Amino acid sequence: MAPPHVLAFPFPAQGHINPMILLCRKLASMGFIITFINTRSRHEQEFKKSTALAYRFVSIPDDCLPKHRLGNNLQMFLNAMEGMKQDLEQLVTDMASDPRRPPVTCVLFDAFIGWSQEFCHNLGIARALLWTSSAACLLLCFHLPLLKHLLPAKGRKDIIDFMPGLPSFCASHLPSTLQHEDECDPGFELRIQRFERMKGDVWVFVNSFQEMEEAPLDAARDVNPNCIAVGPLHFDDTVEETQLSISPIEDTSCLEWLDKQAPSSVVYVSFGSVATISYSDAQQIYKGLANSGHAFLWVIRLDLLQGSDEQARNEFLARIQQNEKGLIISWAPQVKVLEHESVGAFLSHCGWNSTLESLSAGVPILCLPCFAEQVFNTAWVVDTLKVGVRIKKAMEAGIHASHVEDMVRFVMGRDHCSGDELRRRAKELRHAAKRNVQPNGSSHANLVNFAKALKLHCD
Ligand code: UDX
Repeated sequence: MAPPHVLAFPFPAQGHINPMILLCRKLASMGFIITFINTRSRHEQEFKKSTALAYRFVSIPDDCLPKHRLGNNLQMFLNAMEGMKQDLEQLVTDMASDPRRPPVTCVLFDAFIGWSQEFCHNLGIARALLWTSSAACLLLCFHLPLLKHLLPAKGRKDIIDFMPGLPSFCASHLPSTLQHEDECDPGFELRIQRFERMKGDVWVFVNSFQEMEEAPLDAARDVNPNCIAVGPLHFDDTVEETQLSISPIEDTSCLEWLDKQAPSSVVYVSFGSVATISYSDAQQIYKGLANSGHAFLWVIRLDLLQGSDEQARNEFLARIQQNEKGLIISWAPQVKVLEHESVGAFLSHCGWNSTLESLSAGVPILCLPCFAEQVFNTAWVVDTLKVGVRIKKAMEAGIHASHVEDMVRFVMGRDHCSGDELRRRAKELRHAAKRNVQPNGSSHANLVNFAKALKLHCD
């Protein structure tokens, strides 16, 4: 009998593509055939293409997508993605008559994409979803109507203590991506409908693991018993290394630089693939890092700094380059960097992938959230897991260098009441992360159950 054939359709942003690729790698290692849908413009960029037989990259036109940065325009991107529906449908139909591959058994969609249910229903194929953020955030989506009276929540001080599976938290921590402008915003109703389609018994993969989010994962399963933790996806000794990866070109020279540093002595700084920071905040961060006396490795993407012209940017970068304790690069092999023994802390925007990668490496986090669900993730890291600290940002004044310096010293510190405690708890999570992806671990077992269910579906 032909193995199940999974068609993976990610949301086209790095923080969504990475976990989708990693999930596909795991499914391929379990005997699945994978076709990975890439947007045409990304496909034409330089990226490492797989040579493994179980994978195939196929691109479909993405002329319908906005050309500008994703930033806070999530809904606009999602609406535009509807324009890709027809091409995807055509692709699935063509594959049904392709003698070289079995027909598609299941479409694995990014959970953001709202039309997956109708799409799979029309074609009579199974549907599975990948949720790339936390289980805690998924719960907010499942129970969004409960929050309606508190939105928009920016600046609100209400304490939310009624969400199943979540500890009390402040309304101002709610993700901006869930919010509506006013009571009549049609986008809000659409969001509720989108999340309703993730209930029932559709498979929802969550890139998390039991010890990282025990109560939220249990509560998510109360809503949908097929909501399963499969993480951390990037961290798996059981999968053979493959070339299945799409990412910007990594600057691996930083690993040699890290080799020359003392254990746990370096602060790694990165704001993921989308977030931006103001030029003045960047200057304060730099001053704080420099004054702390600790070495640092900072990813400064070409589009990271806002509000600086090219000359100011170049002067700023040159100033950092003169500091012998600092290294700047434009894209890091992040997982390898975090696993490096020289890294003692991660100053991060707390995107969910970065959060998971840091804690799975046992590295405490200096949290500097920018947008989306990053403030909510920060609350989980700092208040619930107690494996990080917040870098505070004043409304008007922004970030202050002396505060950055204090926080860096605190986390990198080696006395009982500071960094050591954070590091001890982060190391516990690292061990738990490792256990979960072993053959007898819970994340692994969840995937095996999915594989069995899909194979039965094929029979
Ligand atoms: C976005 C949202 O901003 C985030 O809040 C959400 O949880 C996922 O989608 P992004 O901002 O890019 O993602 O952050 P993050 O989730 O941390 O993902 C970034 C990915 O890029 C990580 O897997 C990280 O390892 C990788 N990365 C980042 C690199 O490989 N090298 C780098 O230099 C920077």
